[in-house]
Amino acid sequence: MPVITEIEDLHRIYKRRVPKMFYDYCQSGSWTEQTFKDNEADFDLIRLRQRVAVDMEGRSVRSTMIGRDVAMPVALAPVGLTGMQHADGEILAAKAAEKVGVPFTLSTMSICSIEDVAARTKAPFWFQLYVMKDEDFVDNLIGRAKAAGCDALVLTLDLQILGQRHKDLKNGLSAPPKLTPATLANLATKVGWGLEMSKTTRRTFGNIVGHAKGVTDTSSLSSWTAEQFDPALDWSKIARIKEKWDGKLILKGILDAEDAKMALQVGADAIIVSNHGGRQLDGALSSIRMLPKIMQAVGSEIEVHMDGGIRSGQDVLKAIALGARGTYIGRAFIYGLGARGQKGVEEALEVIHKELDTTMALCGEKNIHDLGPHNLLVPKGFTGEWETVQRNA
Ligand code: GLV
Repeated sequence: MPVITEIEDLHRIYKRRVPKMFYDYCQSGSWTEQTFKDNEADFDLIRLRQRVAVDMEGRSVRSTMIGRDVAMPVALAPVGLTGMQHADGEILAAKAAEKVGVPFTLSTMSICSIEDVAARTKAPFWFQLYVMKDEDFVDNLIGRAKAAGCDALVLTLDLQILGQRHKDLKNGLSAPPKLTPATLANLATKVGWGLEMSKTTRRTFGNIVGHAKGVTDTSSLSSWTAEQFDPALDWSKIARIKEKWDGKLILKGILDAEDAKMALQVGADAIIVSNHGGRQLDGALSSIRMLPKIMQAVGSEIEVHMDGGIRSGQDVLKAIALGARGTYIGRAFIYGLGARGQKGVEEALEVIHKELDTTMALCGEKNIHDLGPHNLLVPKGFTGEWETVQRNA
């Protein structure tokens, strides 16, 4: 077994192991993938301030996210079709998160159902909700998440309609995969993945199949979203869901200070600064570049989390230093899951934990709560290079 020292090690194994259709689903953004690339590249623009001769003993990266104790401020992001990256993927990832002591978020578009994950884990997980046209179905999902003991609802706001993802359309992405000659030829080379998949019965959208009425094709993400997601989602509907859920609410997909203020008004417990991993509005600015502006607007009044582009503990440190209370990894844990199942997710989290701890020490800090902008060297204009322009009528 190769030694894993960085997330990229897991990525390489993952790429070999998993069918192209699901690898491409993970490793892509919408349209030109500009935002997908910027999410990572903008982290690299930020440099760190080295400090020396500071006592490094007794360091801690422990924190809280919406009041929950976390081993480090890193949660597993909701990722659709996780159970196609590895058989029973959501259950395995939730178990890994539980073992390491960080929150797991289950996507509405998961393969393993809410009940399945709850039955196989002890720690409460968070449930990510997409708002559908069918209010009864939404209320039913909320009730199921409550019954399963989920202790936060993560409501996604940036996917009322799906951004165009060329690779998924060309690959005919579906769960389970439709067996075209091209897919069959590729699957024939993915023996380990196929063997595991043959041992499970969880091969399509577990939260939806058997629960939603009048759905013609549940296997395709694009047709499901086009048919079912509510394009009329607005702040009044968000308020209705908040009332119905009546628990901790995290609003995901905030990338603008005005929207952050609306989230505050609606009474959310936290927001996630996010562009959906560059999978929705291509051309939007990266999450890390928008974080300072959003912190300025609402940071003293609401917990601000972020996702998008985090591939290392150094990235986590940069986000925390700029004010985020918590971060989420999506692709970084999917690489681990696809490469080695539960163990791979644990390895991904351990890699990030070690990088975060070591980097913090070399920056001269012992406690994650002491990190701040003073630890970073940020290029001039980082937050102000692009601005909305005034236009005379
Ligand atoms: C769904 O959440 C996706 O980004 O594919």
